[in-house]
Amino acid sequence: MATMKAVRYDENGGAEKLYITEVKQPEPGKGQVLLKVYASAVNHVDPMQVAGNYTPPAHVDANLGMEAAGTVVKLGPGCSKWKIGDRVAALLGGGGNAEFVVAHEGHLMSVPGHMTMLEAAGIPEVWLTVYKLLHFAGHVKAGDRVLIHAGGSGTGTAAIQLVRLAGAEAIVTAGTQAKLDMAQELGAVAGFNYKQVDFADKVLEYTQNKGVDMILDCIGSSFWEQNLRSIAVEGTWVVYGLMGGAYVNGPALRGLMRKRLQLVGTNLRPRNDQYKTDLVQAFTENALLHFGKELKPITDSVFPLEEIAIAHRRITSQENIGKIVLSVCEEKQIAD
Ligand SMILES: NC(=O)c1ccc[n+]([C@@H]2O[C@H](COP(=O)([O-])OP(=O)(O)OC[C@H]3O[C@@H](n4cnc5c(N)ncnc54)[C@H](OP(=O)(O)O)[C@@H]3O)[C@@H](O)[C@H]2O)c1
Repeated sequence: MATMKAVRYDENGGAEKLYITEVKQPEPGKGQVLLKVYASAVNHVDPMQVAGNYTPPAHVDANLGMEAAGTVVKLGPGCSKWKIGDRVAALLGGGGNAEFVVAHEGHLMSVPGHMTMLEAAGIPEVWLTVYKLLHFAGHVKAGDRVLIHAGGSGTGTAAIQLVRLAGAEAIVTAGTQAKLDMAQELGAVAGFNYKQVDFADKVLEYTQNKGVDMILDCIGSSFWEQNLRSIAVEGTWVVYGLMGGAYVNGPALRGLMRKRLQLVGTNLRPRNDQYKTDLVQAFTENALLHFGKELKPITDSVFPLEEIAIAHRRITSQENIGKIVLSVCEEKQIAD
């Protein structure tokens, strides 16, 4: 029986519950490929899952690792899109924090020749999420102003760049000057430290009281009043995270009605295979070719898989700017 190293935990708790163990290698089923993983990444919900505060949807692999980059080493029955040896980045239901993982053949994108596996591993989850927020949920247009919360996060650093690529303007909030500086470097036209100022006052000042056309909101409760003040009439408010809470106590619906807003809630991991396939295809056709030019993956830090606990502590510290990547196996040669 072929085995592999993988991250596991047996009970809920902090990063100290994580360990590496030898488990059976997965077998690709119909329409799936087996990847040899070179790199994977850590996402915001991973420590929440280990703590018992987030439950993955029932139909996905509940093991840690929602993305990975690697090479195709085996094709399941009926696979036609890829061949052995292809360098790919995969959006996964889970299981990527391991030496091998199976992925749906429609959820893979080619890793451009100029990109390392370490860079590629941080792309699928946050870049596909943001592409979906802007183009599937929010329908961004050139000239729009988009307010991005958590501007230094994995999703935030991707969002600034995709907003620019769409010909729109990114305005961010973040909790440290270092994150605001990075946002500006990536092309944000304005940024506000939400811990020091009322960001709605600043957004209105910047937009000469018009407000923003779209908000990418991963905060929820703690920002709702400022969001309502920041958004323009007939704006679109896209909720995709609840880091500041899920409950709203106040006249939120009055504001929604008066400003004739669109409020859109969205997520990615629970979506069905076809939705993810369509998203990967749209991203591949419209965004992937811009890496190495207008777009760049932002990597905060790289840890070997064995240091998974340190990687989890880093993301819960909230000090990361961009993605926390896990190195699983060294890539000896970068193919073109
Ligand atoms: N729905 C989906 O499909 C989907 C997919 C991917 C990610 N997400 C969501 O997107 C969000 C970001 O994920 P990520 O992996 O990119 O995050 P990340 O890299 O871990 O960054 C999160 C940052 O958010 C800021 N933050 C945390 N709590 C906050 C609060 N209460 N108020 C304001 N800012 C807060 C912190 O930065 P500061 O220093 O600026 O405070 C923190 O460093 C999460 O909510 C995640 O669940 C959703």
